[in-house]
Amino acid sequence: MDDHAQAPRPPLRALAERCHFAIGAAVATQPLLNGEPDYCALLAREFNVLVAENMMKWDALSPAPEQYDWTASDALVAFAAKHAQRLRGHTLVWHNQLPAWLRDRSLSRTEALRLLETHIKTVVGRYRGQVWAWDVVNEAIDDSGDYRRTSFWFRHLGPDYIALAFQWAHEADPDALLYYNDYSAEGISPKSDAIYRLVRDLKAQGVPIHGVGWQMHLIEGWRLEDQHLRNAERLRALGLELSITELDVRLTLPPSPAQLDGQAESYRQALSFALDHCRALLTWGFSDRYSWIPSFQPGTGAALPFDEAYAPKPAYHALWQTLAARAGQLHA
Ligand code: XIL
Repeated sequence: MDDHAQAPRPPLRALAERCHFAIGAAVATQPLLNGEPDYCALLAREFNVLVAENMMKWDALSPAPEQYDWTASDALVAFAAKHAQRLRGHTLVWHNQLPAWLRDRSLSRTEALRLLETHIKTVVGRYRGQVWAWDVVNEAIDDSGDYRRTSFWFRHLGPDYIALAFQWAHEADPDALLYYNDYSAEGISPKSDAIYRLVRDLKAQGVPIHGVGWQMHLIEGWRLEDQHLRNAERLRALGLELSITELDVRLTLPPSPAQLDGQAESYRQALSFALDHCRALLTWGFSDRYSWIPSFQPGTGAALPFDEAYAPKPAYHALWQTLAARAGQLHA
């Protein structure tokens, strides 16, 4: 009898580890806190890096002024430690998901600076040594390539908050990798040009920034293009690393088998690119049972590698085959 034929396929993380690569997913609050068995089993089995979909955002952590409730984020940190998974921290400075007590308050510049510094140092300090990489600043540039001038932090502090946030995060955990993270940042565009100039200038000023995250919330039909390689190369030439931080590929519902195969091809191309150019690739969730897409982009969904019943979709098989092929080449 051939025992080997009956052995379970290695999970994604085992293949990724052979490639010295981090493959991961965002974790939703409720199924983690409820200990949903299938959800937790798959999360532990398949991934070697996790990120909180919402648990480490300011509104989730701080229900009242300068008070913190760590229940959910501590649960995630404990889960990752138990399963030998790295963590990405998401996110310290963002214009969305701010607590109402902060958002609705009028603040002087001095107060805004003090609140931001305290928040960053409190959160990064609590998880010092346990978070591999932080998304320090999320979505500071708008699609035209200007600063997002109407955002809470820009209105209170102008562009200075960006360098300060990196500095404060670095003081709180000198070993954490510090990222600038944004969407529609992977191609060459006014937005990605502005991100390039921003991170280039931060590096030139000696600000502790180590990486750029491309969210990559993609639409059906996405394919890798030369512009993605050129953008990766210019960022890496600055001495920065890259990660794909929030990948999903949304489909119009209900998807046909051909659409699911097309989606698998998008996942395959994104991962194959990431294996050459990135530190990590994380999907924004892993099962269509818990995905932000249907509520934020009505009429679309089915964006993740597992379906609502946790069965692997063609996209999962594409990820698996891409990692297996690469792991095989490295060990040939
Ligand atoms: C989304 C979450 O998935 C939702 O559950 C939440 O209601 C809103 O935020 N870019 C980001 C993420 O950086 O934090 C966002 O996450 C998706 C877009």
